[in-house]
Amino acid sequence: MAKRVLVSGGAGYIGSHVTVELINAGYEVVVADNMSNCDMTCFEGVKKITGRDDIPFFEIDCCDYEAVEKLFAENSIDAVIHFAAYKAVGESVAQPIKYYRNNLVSFLNILEVAKAKGGCNVLFSSSATVYGEAENLPVTEQTPRLPATSPYGNTKQMCEDILRDSVAAYDGVKGIALRYFNPIGAHPSALIGELPRGVPNNLVPFITQTAIGKRKQLSVFGNDYDTHDGTGVRDYIHVVDLAKGHVAAVKYATATLGCDVFNLGTGTGYSVLDMVKAFETANNIPVPYEIAPRRPGDIDECYADPTRAYEILGWKAEYGIEDMCRDANNWQSKNPNGFEA
Ligand code: UD1
Repeated sequence: MAKRVLVSGGAGYIGSHVTVELINAGYEVVVADNMSNCDMTCFEGVKKITGRDDIPFFEIDCCDYEAVEKLFAENSIDAVIHFAAYKAVGESVAQPIKYYRNNLVSFLNILEVAKAKGGCNVLFSSSATVYGEAENLPVTEQTPRLPATSPYGNTKQMCEDILRDSVAAYDGVKGIALRYFNPIGAHPSALIGELPRGVPNNLVPFITQTAIGKRKQLSVFGNDYDTHDGTGVRDYIHVVDLAKGHVAAVKYATATLGCDVFNLGTGTGYSVLDMVKAFETANNIPVPYEIAPRRPGDIDECYADPTRAYEILGWKAEYGIEDMCRDANNWQSKNPNGFEA
């Protein structure tokens, strides 16, 4: 079994939840982060939740090859989960070079060091965005990827391809791409969660900020989509379930050869208005909203077929939509100012 796992981007939203679940499952974890999109709140929270004050933390940028090389050399890493990447779709359209340079170079460095040390299990944090507007739902791992509609989405596709080709070429390098649907919520302790900078792009952080009065109202982007109530449908997954999916994938990676890909979703789609309702019910707080124009690039509907992850990894999501909304609200209530605190 892989004993020591490097979590790159481990001080961020998903990385911090994955660090907790890896430690709960008995792994040693080394965290690396360049702190470009987080502060130490979540890393401190991870230490509190796990009762571990000794988790090695390195403030490095994975775009710095020498730093990555040194990190591997000094920590005998058995597996890497690579989160360290930029993730704002709109910003990637405005600043494509920034996205291509950061997201590709950091991943190439990880793979190059993995190859140089004679092998490693490399898990890549991919996204359901690679499917685009799929013709048939739910999407399985066999659903064809469609041309990316943003540089961000393109970096996800390119990194998946780079991983596949590297695994084919280099002995001992094994890889898994995990395609996330829409991770939301926070650890039930409310010690770690998402801290978006500025105005949130994603639905649930916008809802939670509206619920605490930080935003006047939610803009529902379009009510003329081809869905049950006209608003966009997505597969929201509790970030703790998502994190447990990573633990299952690390276990599997050590026991198998080659390159693989798994959807991490629940299999159920909820519309924007379903989410508003679920949030209001779970927290007993009204969420004022208005119907606004569609957001460019959005699709009607996307949800996963998570069967493969269940059959092969033995993993499936356990939390329901109201759990997600409750935990998102608890976290937001305890951290009303996020980075601005
Ligand atoms: C978005 C990204 C996706 C990325 C994912 C990361 C786009 C087009 N897609 O997915 O590439 O992997 O985040 O988490 O940005 N909505 C509102 N009002 C809001 C915000 C969102 O109505 O203020 C709606 C959207 O139109 C959509 C749904 O809520 O129907 C979910 O939006 P969001 O949370 O941004 O996720 P995705 O668009 O699915």
